[in-house]
Amino acid sequence: MTILPTLPKRLHGASVWMLYALGFIPAVFAFYLGATGQLPGNAIKEFEHLLGLWALRFLVATLAITPIRDLFGVNWLRYRRALGLLAFYYVLMHFLAYMVLDQMLRFPAIIADIARRPFITIGMTAFVLIIPLALTSNNWSIRRLGQRWNKLHKLVYVIAAAGALHFAMAVKVVGPEQMLYITLVAMLLLWRVVRTRFLRWKRSRTGFTRSIAATEKAAA
Ligand code: HEM
Repeated sequence: MTILPTLPKRLHGASVWMLYALGFIPAVFAFYLGATGQLPGNAIKEFEHLLGLWALRFLVATLAITPIRDLFGVNWLRYRRALGLLAFYYVLMHFLAYMVLDQMLRFPAIIADIARRPFITIGMTAFVLIIPLALTSNNWSIRRLGQRWNKLHKLVYVIAAAGALHFAMAVKVVGPEQMLYITLVAMLLLWRVVRTRFLRWKRSRTGFTRSIAATEKAAA
């Protein structure tokens, strides 16, 4: 049962492009604030922080599409690719902000950071893993890879878990914001574990309701 009004089919394509356009607003706005000296505190760190946070938000949104469909019957599958790609673009911008603005392309320092600071090692792992997903997020790759595409894209769970962990480890004290993302990612991953059982239960329940309706109709 769908609880929301459905968008007319002819607007599906436009709504995906709208999502891309809206999705880049936080980056453009953060850049504008940074360039005009309106970011509080250390502007570079703040810019980096905002891009990382939006990367995590888009990862969570990507993972939420399936449970939303399973639980509420709202099918937003058409937005999943855009959300995943937005997550990738934000991770890429976060990484570039770190390399160019924070480290000023001092490669020995960057390599030492990646090797010695566990939270950066974990962030880097997530970044490396998200690249093949972004490169294969197109219809041609889905056709070419077949079942292997599904297997490859399961990496998104590892990436989201690594992203949330990286966020928690980047701060001295784990606060409510970090706990929120860790909990959200944990719940979304847990959903994948219980999903098959839930769908089986839902199907049996629907079948049961239908058979009662059919019996009542026959008796009337
Ligand atoms: C999926 C990949 C990633 C996600 C979701 C992510 C997310 C985040 C988030 C949310 C923060 C904010 C922490 C805070 O300042 O409160 C952060 C901080 C940071 N990230 Fe990432 N990140 C990712 C990958 C990377 C990569 C590849 C690098 C660099 C190699 C990196 C370097 C950093 C650094 C240096 C900080 C600390 C900035 C500071 O000192 O305030 N991250 N990240």
